[in-house]
Amino acid sequence: MVTISRHQSIKPAFNARMTADQFKILSDVIYDYCGIKLSQHKKVLLESRLHKRLQKLNLESFDDYLSFLNSKENTDTELVEMTDVVTTNKTDFFRERHHFDFLSETILPKLTQRSTSLRVWSAACSTGEEPYTIAMALEEYCRDHHDAKYSLLASDISTAALHRAAMAVYSQERISSIPSDYRPKYLLRSKDHTKMTFRIVPELRAKIEFRRINLMDEVLPENEKFQIIFCRNVLIYFDRNTQLNVVRKLTNRLTPGGYLFIGHSESLLQHDLPIIQIKPTIYQQTNPASNGQDGKNI
Ligand SMILES: C[S@@+](CC[C@H](N)C(=O)[O-])C[C@H]1O[C@@H](n2cnc3c(N)ncnc32)[C@H](O)[C@@H]1O
Repeated sequence: MVTISRHQSIKPAFNARMTADQFKILSDVIYDYCGIKLSQHKKVLLESRLHKRLQKLNLESFDDYLSFLNSKENTDTELVEMTDVVTTNKTDFFRERHHFDFLSETILPKLTQRSTSLRVWSAACSTGEEPYTIAMALEEYCRDHHDAKYSLLASDISTAALHRAAMAVYSQERISSIPSDYRPKYLLRSKDHTKMTFRIVPELRAKIEFRRINLMDEVLPENEKFQIIFCRNVLIYFDRNTQLNVVRKLTNRLTPGGYLFIGHSESLLQHDLPIIQIKPTIYQQTNPASNGQDGKNI
């Protein structure tokens, strides 16, 4: 028999249901706040993800949750918490490997002819696998080209994902996509050998600044410019207008001739933007002098 002490609370079995009206209100809030467009068939998914918040807050219904979310003193903090459970943070080390091959073989040699100081932004970095992969590629390049230096900004809207990214601790399964010759260089095995977890080495961690940035915000890293921006597998959650606004802001943050990487199922071809496609999912800011017409930036 399980006995419950006076200090333990029993959480009710969770079956709060979300009505169509509640879904409409919540999906509008999410869209306005972080641009994520949830179609009607995502209702069950949203309901189950928000159950975590209701349970944590000891609320029994979505009406209670909406009142909580609407109350002046809670709105700002709850939007942050809600985003943590609503966002999909799926990622991997060396995801879309061809991006990193192209980066090392083609882009870095071009860029370092112009400047030896590289500034790169991973604009929806999730739990860190993407920026650490970029850092490994840059580190390898800089080892062979001693005058080149780099630094990275990695940002996401999810504070929970950013926390894990900054911790930089990954399971054996997660690190399996890192090339085997990179693992001894860039990973430290946990001192507790029963754990089988690995941490990114301090030298690489020191190259990355993690920041919470909502891509919906009007001003993205103010006055900062980047030669390379990765914004992969996040535009798919946005509608066409939001995609256009976000990518326009990102291209404003690129140095002339800078590069933008997007995800494998995303395309910017139908958008009128100051960039040209140099490979599927890889774009280059058009040199204003060439007006982007000759398509020869690279
Ligand atoms: C599927 S993950 C992609 C991670 C990584 N870029 C990759 O390709 O592996 C999408 C990330 O976008 C983030 N995201 C969603 N909406 C965002 C917004 N408005 N601003 C910034 N990040 C956002 C999510 O928190 C999530 O971590």
